[in-house]
Amino acid sequence: MRRRLPWMVVTLLAGGALAAGPPIFGGEQSERSSIPFQTVLELEHTARLLAVLLDSGRAVINDNQILLDESQGRGLTPEAFERQLLDMFRGRAGIDLHELDHTALAPRTKRLLRALVETSRQVIADVHRELSPPAKGFTGFIPAAFGARVSARFTEQTGVRLKQTALAPRNPANRPDAYEQGALEAFADAAYPRETVISEMAANSASFRLMFPLYATRHCLDCHGEPKGVVDRLGYPREGLVLGQNAGAISVMLPVKP
Ligand code: HEC
Repeated sequence: MRRRLPWMVVTLLAGGALAAGPPIFGGEQSERSSIPFQTVLELEHTARLLAVLLDSGRAVINDNQILLDESQGRGLTPEAFERQLLDMFRGRAGIDLHELDHTALAPRTKRLLRALVETSRQVIADVHRELSPPAKGFTGFIPAAFGARVSARFTEQTGVRLKQTALAPRNPANRPDAYEQGALEAFADAAYPRETVISEMAANSASFRLMFPLYATRHCLDCHGEPKGVVDRLGYPREGLVLGQNAGAISVMLPVKP
């Protein structure tokens, strides 16, 4: 039998309140991890901030979608993107990344947040370069494309895995593993509390995992909304999501040892 979920930490994003609770799904709580609780809290905080930062980048792309489409992907400069990213993150996480040195965050957390901002900016700079002169058959630089490129590069550089996933993914590379599947099923339940992440220390205590739920905004519905099955402008069948419904998650896998 698999032994998972020795620790389960559920966090309310809204209030930032943190409580160690019983497992939400599956697993046993047989063996307590030898990892100090303080370390678990720090890992949880780091993973959550990375998910919020990646999602903030996705949201900035979303906000600029019309501009990006009309300029064939070249209308958003890396500098403008970074400015909007830091504004978005400050609004959502209450942390000013310009002032990172003056925060009480752990050194590793600071390093990873800086690396993720840098990776995000580089991806925008690459897109600029690739699309000058305008690419033939430009189909759109969308939040998911941004997220996938940033995640791949960030994982390569830091060993921290970021992934966008959903129960019925459009891209087979985003298919959930068993842990992600369980969390996505919990998020999909209408009774599940909104904005509540699911996290665990992996059974071998080598990595900490966190699932950060995403919700459908009006923008997302252009592609993922109704009518279900009718293809969107990129040629994918729509999922039939409605406003506010869970639309998947960002999955974070953070090695316990830096
Ligand atoms: C312009 C159309 C479009 C919009 C707008 C859009 N998406 Fe997507 N989404 C896609 C496509 C296409 C993919 C698959 C990308 C790939 O091949 O990796 C995708 C992938 C995803 C994935 C990863 C799982 C999968 O299906 O592969 C998630 C999660 C997701 N979108 C959520 C959202 C959310 C939340 C929003 C709104 C904030 C949104 N999307 C807006 C088209 C869109």
